[in-house]
Amino acid sequence: MRKALVLGGCTGLLGQALVRVLAHRGWQVETLGRSDGNLLDMDFLQRFLERSEADVVFNAVAWTRADEAEDHPEEALLLNRTLPDALARVLRNLGSGLLVHFSSDRVFAGHGLTPLDESETPAPLSVYGKTKLEGERAVLGDLPERSLVIRTAWLFGPGRSNFVQRVLDACHRRDVISVVHDQTGSPSYTMDVALWSTLLAEGSQTGLWHVANSGCATWCELASEAVSLTGNQCRVEPIPASHWPHRAERPEFSVLDCGKLAAFLGELPRPWPQALREYLYAEGCA
Ligand SMILES: NC(=O)c1ccc[n+]([C@@H]2O[C@H](COP(=O)([O-])OP(=O)(O)OC[C@H]3O[C@@H](n4cnc5c(N)ncnc54)[C@H](OP(=O)(O)O)[C@@H]3O)[C@@H](O)[C@H]2O)c1
Repeated sequence: MRKALVLGGCTGLLGQALVRVLAHRGWQVETLGRSDGNLLDMDFLQRFLERSEADVVFNAVAWTRADEAEDHPEEALLLNRTLPDALARVLRNLGSGLLVHFSSDRVFAGHGLTPLDESETPAPLSVYGKTKLEGERAVLGDLPERSLVIRTAWLFGPGRSNFVQRVLDACHRRDVISVVHDQTGSPSYTMDVALWSTLLAEGSQTGLWHVANSGCATWCELASEAVSLTGNQCRVEPIPASHWPHRAERPEFSVLDCGKLAAFLGELPRPWPQALREYLYAEGCA
């Protein structure tokens, strides 16, 4: 039986989806999170990975609070670069094991109008994006033969707060919500991203991959679809990003081109509205 170690598997949005998918596909799954020890302690990490003897280590731990990262760049860097860097070095020293590390569409500036593939030059606008880019480069540099870096985007799914859930919660309290209409991305279901990531790992794929559901949307379109699927009467008012200031600058257009993934799967990743419907139905909301 293949063995996976999932960092962030107990509490993370994507980590929990990975645990479910891997277990469903017959993997033996172990998790590693802050309750097990200090992940930034190299000796602890080394001992844990050595004892774990995982065939694949999935790193879904990250500093994901992009706005707060602007005020805490060192802490964000520790989780988003130092940790994956350490994981790659430990696995390199151990001489076995694939590292699957997750990154973000926020490595792109997103000033264009066409979907971004893996060959596109990153130019992050925020501390979060910069630290994520440094993390991917560290992993691919340290462990080129045995690392898989997966950029994903705009995640929704069970187990932890996410944009779709926050929209639906707001609709229970208000008749009208205002949502940004001039930023476009790739809404993605954690269960799908977890499945495709597992398939890539099972296929011993390495290198950089874009993994997201097909199609694109603005935040406003994603919110409207979620509201409409749940039969909520709440109005979704489109507003420009300039009316919803954030500490961290966000790309205007960061749609991921997943053609490489589609070629691997032999079909297009399913469209995000279909995945959203499944998520909301599973949650008992649709
Ligand atoms: N969410 C998105 O829309 C999105 C989009 C693009 C890319 N991604 C990438 O996908 C990956 C997973 O994201 P996610 O949304 O699943 O993240 P998440 O839900 O915020 O989970 C992050 C995980 O990291 C853990 N963590 C944070 N600080 C820690 C620390 N100091 N020590 C130990 N564990 C710590 C958290 O544990 P606690 O629960 O204990 O804090 C949690 O398990 C990340 O690499 C992220 O950059 C996410």
